[in-house]
Amino acid sequence: MSIRFLTAGESHGKGTIVILEGFPAGLTITIDDINFEMARRQKGYGRGGRMQIETDHVEILSGVRKGVTLGSPITLFVKNKDYENWEKIMTPDVTDHPAGNPLQRPRPGHADLSGGIKYNHRDLRNILERASARETTVRVAAGAVAKKFLKDFGILVQSHVAQLGAAISRKTVIRYEGLNMAADKSPVRMLDKVAERKAVALIDLAKKKGDTLGGIFEVITTGVPVGLGSHVQWDRKLDGRLAQILMSMQAIKGVEIGSGFSNAVLFGSKVHDEIGYDKKRGFYHLTNRAGGIEGGMSNGEPIVVRVAKKPIATLKQPLRSVDIETKKEIKAAYERSDTCALPAASVIGEALCAWVIADAFLEEMGGDFMTEIHQRYQLYLKHVKNY
Ligand SMILES: Cc1cc2nc3c(=O)[nH]c(=O)nc-3n(C[C@H](O)[C@H](O)[C@H](O)COP(=O)(O)O)c2cc1C
Repeated sequence: MSIRFLTAGESHGKGTIVILEGFPAGLTITIDDINFEMARRQKGYGRGGRMQIETDHVEILSGVRKGVTLGSPITLFVKNKDYENWEKIMTPDVTDHPAGNPLQRPRPGHADLSGGIKYNHRDLRNILERASARETTVRVAAGAVAKKFLKDFGILVQSHVAQLGAAISRKTVIRYEGLNMAADKSPVRMLDKVAERKAVALIDLAKKKGDTLGGIFEVITTGVPVGLGSHVQWDRKLDGRLAQILMSMQAIKGVEIGSGFSNAVLFGSKVHDEIGYDKKRGFYHLTNRAGGIEGGMSNGEPIVVRVAKKPIATLKQPLRSVDIETKKEIKAAYERSDTCALPAASVIGEALCAWVIADAFLEEMGGDFMTEIHQRYQLYLKHVKNY
């Protein structure tokens, strides 16, 4: 591992924070680069009230001077503007003010019950506050730094929503250029207008019924050189690393590399990507069903990852639960919540993929400052060309 990050913060606490360790010196990064990604995370049809009351802005607390990284830990902070309304409930100080009504009706599909038992809390808010996807604000901030780093080497991480509920995008991505720009124009980040209309109608219906929706998004990374990750050890495999970070995102329940699931039921001859060679391109693959990864290593083709997000677990028409105090059946708790957060999840997915690919890139090229890494990258590309 060459870079790492650690996040902290509660959903309605003072804010969320992330420390990025291991980024080289000399990378140009501005607050606008980061806030651009923060704004993309907040968009999307189907989000709850919080997105209307808060615009997330990052404050850089360390590691950057005059728009350039120093090589020291980078600390990024996002203030929760809603804290003003929650201070009495969430304050770390000892006060006489009651901590609000304790939350004692665990929501199915949430961390509430398991977390309550595990940490021995009788107010399940103590679990909910950290399990919340509010934590992804700073993951996106971290990913923005990783994306900026990768862009310096011509590597682009983009995404789109492939399916929302039963609305399936029939548009397969063949042109990668401007993919994010096109997806960002859609309220559900879909490239297919028919599917987009169906998705918006489904969200309206879910909202009306007090229900929620999930779906599948696709993250595509282009410009990745052959050889990131390694076949030699389980925790160095690039596909495994991508799957882990994506599965760690709240509500993600499936990760597929390339067309992994549909490949599984076909004959091998219909699955594996044949190899070609020409002087200009060097080695390449005639198709990309493997999604750009073979043997735990990037193979030079675009890295395509499909990710399944479950529907939001907080329902306005709550499911059955049991009160942790009375042990009696009761409807689960409800508080302000999204109907569908899939478009935002796709943006978070980009950040997480960018992180893993930047990590694998730095591992391969090494170096503590950008010009050194560029020099090493040129040498590596020369090696690939001459192979
Ligand atoms: C961008 C995003 C927004 C989310 N918003 C909500 C929400 O408003 N309400 C909710 O109950 N869950 C929401 N979730 C999902 C929960 O955080 C998640 O389901 C919960 O923490 C349980 O974890 P698990 O689903 O990974 O098992 C969101 C997830 C993401 C990625």
